[in-house]
Parts: sequence; structure tokens; C-alpha cells
Amino acid sequence: MKRLRLGVNIDHVATIRNARGGSHPDPVRAAGLAARAGADGITAHLREDRRHISDDDITRLSRDIPLPLNLEMAATPEMLDIALRHRPAAACIVPEKRKEITTEGGLDVVSDMDRLGNFVADLGAAGCRVSLFIDPEFDQLHAACKIGAPVVELHTGSYCGAVSESDREAELARIVESAAVAERLGLECHAGHGLTFETVAPVAAITSLTELNIGHFLVGEAIFGGLESSIRRMRGLMDKARSHGLGIRTA
Ligand code: PXP
Repeated sequence: MKRLRLGVNIDHVATIRNARGGSHPDPVRAAGLAARAGADGITAHLREDRRHISDDDITRLSRDIPLPLNLEMAATPEMLDIALRHRPAAACIVPEKRKEITTEGGLDVVSDMDRLGNFVADLGAAGCRVSLFIDPEFDQLHAACKIGAPVVELHTGSYCGAVSESDREAELARIVESAAVAERLGLECHAGHGLTFETVAPVAAITSLTELNIGHFLVGEAIFGGLESSIRRMRGLMDKARSHGLGIRTA
């Protein structure tokens, strides 16, 4: 069975730091703790408005941490330039709207194939493992495959935000089926957004997935029990779901 990697997103450590404009808490220190607690990678989103992660954070995360960096970035010339300068191990292209509180939906790859294809090619040529953040929809998966993306990350926000049990089941089914289609297309498949201790297990049990990226909940939970402890518990829940299979899911 494929091992499930955990990418810890440390954006909101920077959010807390920026609330006071100083240097504490430092996301680079958080990345070191995440490594000790069982994370396989660190994810950071450099936004156009620099509301959390800064350019200097990216420089230090590229240089000073013991784990591969996954740079989340909008498909803009500015971000491409920065990515090509730092050459992170991975780059995840996300849609970005100036006023959104968080990444609201997946990329529309279907309507933007030529432009996104150029970003995939340029980042791939620089040695980055490129992923496209998409909603769990078949046409988006096929478009991602057509433009040569090696990896897709499925947006789990609708699943995590579903209020009724039946909606949550329906959203989970979309993720399960999309992960199976991604695997058939030869795409490496990741997932993330909004995952918590309560919602992670059914997603972690999807055997076609190879990586989950989780941030806001882990940083929030760190207030109560510490960052290492929140990451260790998440890692444990992921491993348990994988090993118990939770009714191993394939479409
Ligand atoms: N994956 C992607 C592509 C994201 O944009 C985010 C949020 O920055 C996450 C995963 C992590 O989401 P959360 O912070 O809700 O765990």
C-alpha cells in the first residue's frame, strides 16, 4: 500500500507573527518542530498580498529546514520568478483572489489549459514536482493530465464543510472517485484543505492518495496542546486509518 505523506502548512504561524509585526512565532522554527513530529514536508503559500508568509520566510524555508518545501503559488509571472529562483522540491499552483479569506475553490484548468500548461512546463523544467489544486471533478482531472501535470491536489473543503451527514458522504464519494480516476490517468494524487482530527480518517483511508496537506487546524490546535503534539496526533490518525483500511476505498 502507498505510504501517505503529511505536508504541514505553516502559513498561520506567520499569520500570528504578523499580527504584531515582529519575528515571533517563527514559521521556520515551526517547520523544525513539524519535522520532529513526523511531517514529511512543509507547505507555505506566498500570497500576492504577503498576508502571512513573506519573501524572507521562503528564502529561509528553502535554506534552513530539514524537509522538502512545497511552495503554494498563484500562476502569476511574479510567483513563477520567485519559484524559479528558489527551486523548491514541489510547487502547488492554486487560484488566488485578493479578497478571499482562504483558497476558496480549485483551479479552472479546463478553461486555462494553455496558460497553466506553460507554468507546469517551466516549473517542471526547474526540477519542481508540480501539482494543480483542483476540485474533485473529472473534467479538471483530465485537463490536468492533458497539460502534463504530474500531480493533482484535490480540494477537501466541501467535504470538511458539509453540514449534514448525507452531504458529507456525497462529498467524500466525489473525492474517492476522483482519486481513483487520477490514479488511472497516472497522476499522483494529493488532498487537503480544512482537514481536522474529526474529518481526516475517511480521507486518509483512500488508498489512491499519497499526500495530505494540513495547516490551519494544526496551528489552531497547537494553542491547546502544542504544535508537536497536534502534528503527532494527526499523523497517528492518518496511519491508523491507512492500516485499518477503514473499508479500503476504491471507486
Ligand atoms: N492545500 C492547499 C492547496 C491549500 O491552499 C491549503 C490552505 O492554504 C491547504 C492545503 C491547507 O488547508 P488548511 O490550512 O485548511 O488545512
